[in-house]
Amino acid sequence: MARSDGKPIWLDCDPGHDDAIALLFALFAPQNCTGGSNFAAALDLLGVSVVAGNAPVAATYANAARLLTLYGAALPKHSRDFESDGVHLFCGSEVPLNKLPRSDPDIHGEDGLGGVTGLPSLGSEQVQKRVWASYDVPQQRHLLPRSSPGELLVFWHALLTHRIKKGLPKMTIVATGPLTNVALLMRGFPDLVEQGIEEVVIMGGAPPGTRGNRGPLAEFNILVDPEAADIVFNFDVPVVMAGLNVTHQAIFGRSHLERLQAHQCGDQALCDTLASVVTFFADTYKSEFGFTSGPPVHDVLAVAYVVAPELFNCPTTGAPPKRYQVQVETAAHSLAMGSTVIDFYAKTCQRPEEEWWGRGGRNAIVLEHLDVEKLWDMFFACLERCAQRRKQLGVSS
Ligand code: BDR
Ligand code: CA
Repeated sequence: MARSDGKPIWLDCDPGHDDAIALLFALFAPQNCTGGSNFAAALDLLGVSVVAGNAPVAATYANAARLLTLYGAALPKHSRDFESDGVHLFCGSEVPLNKLPRSDPDIHGEDGLGGVTGLPSLGSEQVQKRVWASYDVPQQRHLLPRSSPGELLVFWHALLTHRIKKGLPKMTIVATGPLTNVALLMRGFPDLVEQGIEEVVIMGGAPPGTRGNRGPLAEFNILVDPEAADIVFNFDVPVVMAGLNVTHQAIFGRSHLERLQAHQCGDQALCDTLASVVTFFADTYKSEFGFTSGPPVHDVLAVAYVVAPELFNCPTTGAPPKRYQVQVETAAHSLAMGSTVIDFYAKTCQRPEEEWWGRGGRNAIVLEHLDVEKLWDMFFACLERCAQRRKQLGVSS
């Protein structure tokens, strides 16, 4: 099939329980979030890349391939297929730019999707096709290609060059893991980023006043690769930050879980798998951080912002989120390593002008408010559309 006319996005992620749900949003968010299955796709997901984060990159790659298969995402016809609706998949960096790798088994289990049931296996024919679909190297005895950001960067170069030459709309990058791959793209091909990227929407960071979750002041994605985050925040392209201050509002509560377990969309297998995602995540968030009403499904916010930015307006004034200067602490031996320091009163901002998004300027839009019930309406609309897709493919229960 030809590509949809939704907003073109690329998802860079580290699945991860909340990344798994972000991927559902990226594939199936409808233009009208409460509109059910009859509405056209809001987004045109061009591809997915993974990075080391919640688990080592081989695991996050396997997880992404298994999730895309579960959701029934279309396969690209060949490694440089830019025309059909196929979703490309690449394995990115296995290490941060300048720090030792670290993952988060206490939250996501050893393989990144602990406790999740019902996913197709890595060795299955469908998943293996997807694992290799965007790689030119012949399929070998291994179940996964060698982890390397090189193939991803070469592909991004070809894709962005193609889109710029054809005058296609700029692509938005949504990043829900450490920012290593995105920083490598910015360092490798700055001209292509300037010409071909609309904005970078990240889940990451904890504004001053919000506790860190993996450092005293640091959120996990930024802490894992602060140098990469520093590059991304200071590149002259709009950045939108969904940090813990706002993602902790996105609690998937008991009533939502019960609605999921009621299988209203008619696809029992899909609902049960997603329920296992939420349940494991709820348990680890309870034991690790004391969240008792449900887990904060952080990563979906970054995708939801691209679909419906109005969900993040101030509920009292209706004003859109504000733009500030954000800087990242990169010093290895600092207690504040990985913190996102926000200049709320523009005291250090040297280049406040509207058109400058780079270093010294107001370089990021910082999300603060969320219409959480609309977010979960969007989730159930995505579920409905995914169930329809699986029915068409004949894979649903
Ligand atoms: C972030 O870290 C991971 O646990 C989640 O996937 C999310 O991207 C939250 O700090
Ligand atoms: Ca993530």
